[in-house]
Amino acid sequence: MRLDRFLFHHSDHGRREIRRILASGRVRVEGEIEKDTQREIGDFTKVMLDGELLRDDTACYVMLNKPAGYLSATTDPEHPTVMELIDVPETLHIAGRLDRASTGLLILTNDGKWSRRLTEPKENVPKVYLVETAEPITEETHDHFAAGIYFAYEDLTTAPADLEILSAHQARLTIYEGRYHQVKRMFHAVGNKVTSLHRERMGEIKLDPALKPGDYRMLTPEEVATCP
Ligand code: URA
Repeated sequence: MRLDRFLFHHSDHGRREIRRILASGRVRVEGEIEKDTQREIGDFTKVMLDGELLRDDTACYVMLNKPAGYLSATTDPEHPTVMELIDVPETLHIAGRLDRASTGLLILTNDGKWSRRLTEPKENVPKVYLVETAEPITEETHDHFAAGIYFAYEDLTTAPADLEILSAHQARLTIYEGRYHQVKRMFHAVGNKVTSLHRERMGEIKLDPALKPGDYRMLTPEEVATCP
């Protein structure tokens, strides 16, 4: 958002008054006097008018080890939600949901641009899952997933995915999108059924082995910076 619009939305002043205020040097952006009405203001840019902070949004990035049974939702009348596990003052959203029965790495943030970059299919960020299945996992499954699976509902073919078969019923799957129930639907398409699904990694961000199910911690600045 441009600085003049930002000031219009965050103060009681009219547009003409805002131009005057800016010209007289009463506005500081990130501590420096700013007179340019067109200056781009990001989600977490600090803007002050007459020494008063107009907004103090602090970017917040949380890594949760999601336990089974919790919904990736803000509220639900029936089931507990992951939000009940996290106690931070910021209003967070989930960057890439996990199904209720799925476990592992769940990232929550209040930074919408960052979470879109992590989750949008066009960004090609790898998501790595440990999968257990009802039926044995075949070499053909590996080839089918590498070729892409057709999803009739969306009329699309999934991007090539890497399947590392670990044992008859266990594999590590890397997908580069995050479509609705994607992993379950991919296995369903080859006549198998997912019995357990655990997310280990999103991009360069790995689930911290020190986190027990239900535990969370803030991402480190280095982890935040790995997002494309
Ligand atoms: N794919 C699924 O089917 N379920 C998840 O929870 C995550 C990816």
